[in-house]
Amino acid sequence: MRSSQIRSVILGTGSELPSRVITNAALERLVDTSDEWITSRTGIKERRVLEEGKGNADMAYRAAVRALKDAAIEAKDLDAIIMGTVTPDYPFPSSACVLEDMLGARRCFSFDVSAACSGFLNALAIGDSMIRTGMIRHALVLGSDALSRMLNWKDRGTCILFGDGAGAVVVGASHDGHRGILSTKLRTDGSYVKTLYVPAGGSLKPASAESVKKNEHTIAMNGKEVFKIAVRSMEEISRAALDEADVGIEQISLVIPHQANLRIISALAERLKVPMSKVMVNLDRYGNTSAASVPVALDEARREGRIRNGDIVLLNAFGAGFAWGAAVVKF
Ligand code: ACO
Repeated sequence: MRSSQIRSVILGTGSELPSRVITNAALERLVDTSDEWITSRTGIKERRVLEEGKGNADMAYRAAVRALKDAAIEAKDLDAIIMGTVTPDYPFPSSACVLEDMLGARRCFSFDVSAACSGFLNALAIGDSMIRTGMIRHALVLGSDALSRMLNWKDRGTCILFGDGAGAVVVGASHDGHRGILSTKLRTDGSYVKTLYVPAGGSLKPASAESVKKNEHTIAMNGKEVFKIAVRSMEEISRAALDEADVGIEQISLVIPHQANLRIISALAERLKVPMSKVMVNLDRYGNTSAASVPVALDEARREGRIRNGDIVLLNAFGAGFAWGAAVVKF
């Protein structure tokens, strides 16, 4: 159990999904696939794609404004903006800095965290730690990604899986010992870097006419390998987070897992011995929104009335790196 007197409490949540919908039927016209294949293998029916001319921070801004309103906190009261993303507006500076300017959050320090689909959980763990040490009082923590910008729309193995979105939470310091973030756990295994990555566009292989021609700026993935390790890892990290929080799985009211594939989520629920009625699923409408997946699902769960005061919720995610994490939160 944690010793610090200060706890981080989730004061508000918000999310944003772009309005442009790409259905499985639309993908049937792009690649050799079918609604039946995509639905039965992944559970995804449609996903959202950010409109041309907009960047990651445009989505993040809308999610942030909703979270701030929900928390009844003004942007000027934020001490930090921490954004999990692998699709920043620019290679540098961070999307968090772009967002800081959009919000007019003048007292802040802001930075991005790169942990792919686990980015929100990494950002949450950092914000939570900073609050508990007394370094900051209020943090805006986001997961926001536009993976549509990194997809090869001719690769049926990847283009069917992903969508764009942003989710935000406002986290604040509290001395209320009865609620808040009870634990966070993070892990990585760098030996899997090339199992899920974007081969070019970084310092190792900068953009060139050749890299563009070879489609090396889009996601390359061994889906089967990701699938297998995702289930195992999310189970292990969830149990570690529950142990640290001293909470039994039967005390969990709702599991909010990373929304990558319904089969991954079902296998995880089975291993954790949690009925699917206690598992949040919205990937049928949004696909895998990378770092946005968990905070978007958390916001929707709250708005649907699936989280009440006193409920304990388990969050978990897994993605490129491999990087994975979990958190236990009491509302
Ligand atoms: N439509 C039709 N057929 C397809 C499609 C498609 N969209 N994609 C693949 N196939 C074919 C394959 O070519 C293969 O055909 P073959 O048997 O003739 O060779 C067959 O379907 C089976 O392919 P598999 O890859 O074995 O299918 P699988 O059941 O493993 O499902 C999937 C693939 C959906 C990608 C699955 O492995 C998965 O979800 N993995 C996890 C991926 C994931 O979550 N990635 C994101 C991590 S998060 C992050 O950090 C970004």
